[in-house]
Amino acid sequence: MSASLNFPRYGDKQNSAFFEEYLVKLLEERDRVGLTDAIQQIDTLMITVEPGNSLAYVRELCLMTPYHYLVTLESQDHFSHILRIDMSAPDILVREVKDPNIRGIFRSLNEVYPIGAHKPNSRYMGEVFRVSNLHEVVELQKAREIRFFNQDQIRKLELPGNMAVVKPSPYTHNIVGYWERPEADIRVYALGWSSIRSDLQAAYLEAKETQEMLGIDKLLLPIDHLATRVYSQNREAAILEYLSLSSYYYWGSYDISKQNSSTNVTKSVHCRNELESPAKVFTAANHPYFVNHLLGLPSPTEQFVRNFGPRLHHIAVAVQDGEVEHQPNIDFVVDALRHCGQDFLLDVIGSREEGLKQIFSSASEYSSLIIEYVQRFGDFQGFFTKDNVAELTHAAGVEESLQTLEAEARS
Ligand SMILES: [Fe+2]
Repeated sequence: MSASLNFPRYGDKQNSAFFEEYLVKLLEERDRVGLTDAIQQIDTLMITVEPGNSLAYVRELCLMTPYHYLVTLESQDHFSHILRIDMSAPDILVREVKDPNIRGIFRSLNEVYPIGAHKPNSRYMGEVFRVSNLHEVVELQKAREIRFFNQDQIRKLELPGNMAVVKPSPYTHNIVGYWERPEADIRVYALGWSSIRSDLQAAYLEAKETQEMLGIDKLLLPIDHLATRVYSQNREAAILEYLSLSSYYYWGSYDISKQNSSTNVTKSVHCRNELESPAKVFTAANHPYFVNHLLGLPSPTEQFVRNFGPRLHHIAVAVQDGEVEHQPNIDFVVDALRHCGQDFLLDVIGSREEGLKQIFSSASEYSSLIIEYVQRFGDFQGFFTKDNVAELTHAAGVEESLQTLEAEARS
């Protein structure tokens, strides 16, 4: 039996007595009833974009990450493009709604937020876990008051028919799906007619040729972590809820007081290597927005959530440790991508001495998601340095303030 509490704790952020008490109770129970062993790694990440944008987004992902375009599945109202590295890293499913007038729950999650509303169909939806016995997992989760879409809703939403999907979290607005797949089987999505679309295939091949020409194709590794931003008062609930839905454990939380924020990390109990099942990170402000004028502190995280709603903020792609032409790989990758027009929010920060270097790209025009690149040096296991996170958070906040001004000017 897996022991979800047998991991060292990192970080300096203080949690409430409620959090510490229920962290132990929830994980002990999860282990005892067999859910920790039944729920395995993250198998798929699902992202939705505006009508007409999936081709450009797939091209962007194939250039900026190691993902390959595999196949397109077409249902009545959606195209779903499957991107894959290999079977040891999660797939990405890029979904495009055909008709801009179609209304659904994912769209309404965007529409009440001032900037989120500008791209109502664009958001990270959530991740799908591989489970050993789907029926058993669903029954156990229902007994813990987890709510699922019923089969009729799954059909209407055109979600994969071979999955059980939990309703969006009130804290993160993300969904979690479960599907049963023996480890040796390939991933097959029940999402309609399958074809390799010539326009996507051409864009994919062009992106891979560019990666090769730039010399970055061998330097990019799978996804290291996924970072979700939530309202300050939902920090502990979002973490505990995610631990209830997954087989992840609580790694720890760091207080980034300079940016009035904290970074909270959860990781897979089963996969020691994040590249097989990315870490899930939750970022929340230390104080709600309405006391900022009294504190006089910056509040980029709370501001982001107020503008976009709680949602995934960035996908971090790992960069192979090493050097090209006497510069760390990450600097080489970023220079190469800048050369072909990709914008970044700041310069590469961190150092070999601190253990890692990191950078944020500009937010994608298609998904609103930022790509982080992260290179760890030697056997450094840590997730970040406080100074790095403060700088990254600040840079993302500056860009977002500009977007707010633009949105206000438009409205
Ligand atoms: Fe990150």
